[in-house]
Amino acid sequence: MKTIQSRIAVLISILSVFSLILPRATADLILSDFLRCLPKQSQPTYQIFEAIYTRDNTSFQSVLQHYIRNRRFSTPTTPKPLAIVTAKHESHVQATVICANQHGLQIRIRSGGHDYEGLSYVSDVPFVILDLLNLRAIDIKVADKSAWVQAGATIGELYYEIANKSKVHGFPAGACLSLGTGGHFSGGGYGYLMRKYGLTVDNIEDAKLVNVNGTILDRKSMGEDLFWAIRGGGGASFGVILSWKIKLVPVPAKVTVFNIQRTLEQGATDVIYKWQYIAPKLPKDIFIRAMPQVKNTTNGTKTVEVSFIGHFLGQTANLLQLLNARFPELGLQKNDCFEMSWLESTIFWADFPVGTPIDVLLDRPNGPAVFFKVKSDYVKEPIPKQGIESIWKIILKIEKVWMQWNPYGGRMSEISESETSFPHRAGNLFLIQYWTFWGDEGAETTKKYVGLSRKLYEGTTPFVSKSPRETFQNYRDIDIGANLDNRTNFETAKVYGSKYFKGNFERLVSVKTAVDPQNFFKHEQSIPPL
Ligand SMILES: Cc1cc2nc3c(=O)[nH]c(=O)nc-3n(C[C@H](O)[C@H](O)[C@H](O)COP(=O)(O)OP(=O)(O)OC[C@H]3O[C@@H](n4cnc5c(N)ncnc54)[C@H](O)[C@@H]3O)c2cc1C
Ligand SMILES: *[C@@H]1O[C@H](CO)[C@@H](O)[C@H](O)[C@H]1NC(C)=O
Ligand SMILES: *[C@@H]1O[C@H](CO)[C@@H](O)[C@H](O)[C@H]1NC(C)=O
Ligand SMILES: *[C@@H]1O[C@H](CO)[C@@H](O)[C@H](O)[C@H]1NC(C)=O
Ligand SMILES: *[C@@H]1O[C@H](CO)[C@@H](O)[C@H](O)[C@H]1NC(C)=O
Ligand SMILES: *[C@@H]1O[C@H](CO)[C@@H](O)[C@H](O)[C@H]1NC(C)=O
Ligand SMILES: *[C@@H]1O[C@H](CO)[C@@H](O)[C@H](O)[C@H]1NC(C)=O
Repeated sequence: MKTIQSRIAVLISILSVFSLILPRATADLILSDFLRCLPKQSQPTYQIFEAIYTRDNTSFQSVLQHYIRNRRFSTPTTPKPLAIVTAKHESHVQATVICANQHGLQIRIRSGGHDYEGLSYVSDVPFVILDLLNLRAIDIKVADKSAWVQAGATIGELYYEIANKSKVHGFPAGACLSLGTGGHFSGGGYGYLMRKYGLTVDNIEDAKLVNVNGTILDRKSMGEDLFWAIRGGGGASFGVILSWKIKLVPVPAKVTVFNIQRTLEQGATDVIYKWQYIAPKLPKDIFIRAMPQVKNTTNGTKTVEVSFIGHFLGQTANLLQLLNARFPELGLQKNDCFEMSWLESTIFWADFPVGTPIDVLLDRPNGPAVFFKVKSDYVKEPIPKQGIESIWKIILKIEKVWMQWNPYGGRMSEISESETSFPHRAGNLFLIQYWTFWGDEGAETTKKYVGLSRKLYEGTTPFVSKSPRETFQNYRDIDIGANLDNRTNFETAKVYGSKYFKGNFERLVSVKTAVDPQNFFKHEQSIPPL
C-alpha cells in the first residue's frame, strides 16, 4: 500500500494540467482525485500505474499521437487530454469508468483512432482518453466457426489470425487494415464481402461491455435492446466495448480481384453511368467499387480517372464469363485478374501491391499522415450522365479529392432496417464517400478544403437521398446537425440521429435512457437520453 501511495503522490505532485473551460486548479483537483481513485477500483492494482500517462510523462505525446489518423486533430491548438489510460486489463477499463464518473470527468474511448472527426481523442471539456490498444487478444475457434476479438485488435490482426487457423474462413469487415474493432464494428463495418454476407454487425453473436456502473455485461446480461444498439449505433453512447464474438464466414480457397482504370478520355463517364445499374444487381459473389479521382494528364491538364476495383468469391474464368455478359462496357480482360487467397485479397484491398508479404497485416497505426475531411451519401436512383458530369466539374476544381462509390444490394437488401441499429438497407444503389485531403499546415488551408468539401456535398444534393439525407455513421461528419451552442439540445441530436439511424433513432434513445440516463457516455454526436 505504501508504494502505491507514494507513486500516486509522485504522479500528482508533478501534474501541470490546464483546461480551456474549468479554472486550472479545478481541473488539477479533479484529475488528482481521479488518479487516486484508479488503483482502488482496479485489479490487479499494481499494474495500473504502467497504464497511466499524464502530460508529464515523457511518452505522453507519442502515446497520444500514435493512434491519431487525421492530422486535422493533431495541431498545437487541438485540446489535449489530462491523461491517457492505456488499459492493460479489463479491470482498468472498469476503474476508469467508475472513477471518471465519480469525479465528473469526461472520457473519450479509443480503439483504432480512425474517427474522421477525432471524437475518440479530442473534446472541448477536460477529459481523459481510455485507450484500448493493449486489449488485443484474438481467440479463433474454427470448430465453432466463431472467434472472440478484443476491441483494441485491428482488423488486419483479425484477418491474419483467422487465416492462420483456416484457409476457408473469412470475415466481412473494412478494407483499411488498421481499423480498431471497437469503433469499426460498433458503427456497422463494411467491406467487399458486404453484398455476400452483409455488414460486420450482421455477423456478431455476442459482446462484452463495461456499463456506466463499471459492470461487465455480455449479451445475456445486457439484454437484446442494448446488444441491438451497439451493432450500428456506435459504442461510445452506451459503454465501453471490451470484446466481440464474431461468426466466421466461408470463403473459397481462391478468390479473384482486379483494379482497372478508365479516364474521361477513355469513356469513364459512360462506364460509371452503366455501373450504377449493374453493380448493385450483380450476383452476391461480386463486389465492384468505383473510385473516381482527379489525375494529371501528360500535357499538364487534369482529368478524372475512375478505378473499378473488384472482388469475386470464385475464379477468373467464371468472373470473366459473368462480367462480359452483364457488364461488357467494363471490358475486363483475363490479364486484369489476379487469383489469390482471401487473406491476400485483404492486403490487395488495403491498396498494397499484389505480392506484398502478409506480415503487413500486423502493422499497427503509426501517427497521422494527412489532413482530411470526409462526407457521405446514399444514392437510390441512378445519377443522370449530366449529373455525373457536373460532379466531375466540382472535383476537377478541388483536385485533392477522391470518391468511393460502394455498391449495395445482395445480402444488404435482405436484412430489414430494424434488424440492427444500422438502417441503410434495401433501396440503396450505392454509398458514396467523399474524401478531401491536403498536406499543408495552417488554419487557412484547412478552412479552404473543408469549405470545398462542403461545396461538393452541396453540388450532389439533387442526386442523393432526401428527408433525411442519409449518412453512414462510421463516416462521421460533424457538419450534419452540428450546432456547437446547442450540442446537448435534443432537437439537434434528432437531426444527425435521423441521418445516421433513420427510424432506429427513437429506439436508440430509449436504450440510452435505460442504460445511461445521466449521459456519462457522450460526445458531439452521441445518442442523448430523453
Ligand atoms: C483510412 C480509413 C479507412 C476506413 N475504411 C473503412 C471501411 O472500409 N469500412 C468501414 O465501415 N469504415 C471504414 N472507415 C471508418 C471506420 O470504420 C470508423 O472510423 C471507425 O469508427 C473506426 O474505428 P476505430 O476503433 O479505428 O476508431 P476510434 O477513433 O478509436 O473510434 C471511433 C468511434 O468509436 C468509439 N469507440 C472506439 N472504441 C470503442 C469501444 N471499445 N467501446 C465503445 N466505443 C468505442 C469512439 O469513442 C469513437 O466514437 C475507415 C476509416 C479510415 C480513417
Ligand atoms: C508516468 O510518470 C509517472 C511519474 O514519473 C510514473 O510513476 C509512471 O509510471 C509513468 N507512466 C508510465 C506509463 O510510464
Ligand atoms: C500461424 O502463425 C504462426 C505465428 O505467427 C506461424 O508461425 C505459423 O506458421 C502460422 N501458421 C499458418 C498455417 O499460417
Ligand atoms: C498534378 O500537377 C500539379 C501541378 O499542376 C501538382 O501540384 C500535383 O502534385 C500533381 N499531382 C499528381 C498526383 O501528380
Ligand atoms: C491533353 O490531353 C488530353 C488527353 O490526355 C486531351 O483530352 C486534351 O485535349 C489535351 N489538351 C491539350 C491542351 O492538348
Ligand atoms: C439553440 O439554442 C438556443 C437556446 O436554447 C435557441 O434559442 C436557438 O433557437 C437554438 N438554435 C438552433 C439552430 O436550434
Ligand atoms: C447503476 O447503479 C445505480 C445505483 O446503484 C442504479 O440505480 C442503476 O440502475 C445502475 N445502472 C445500471 C445500468 O446498471
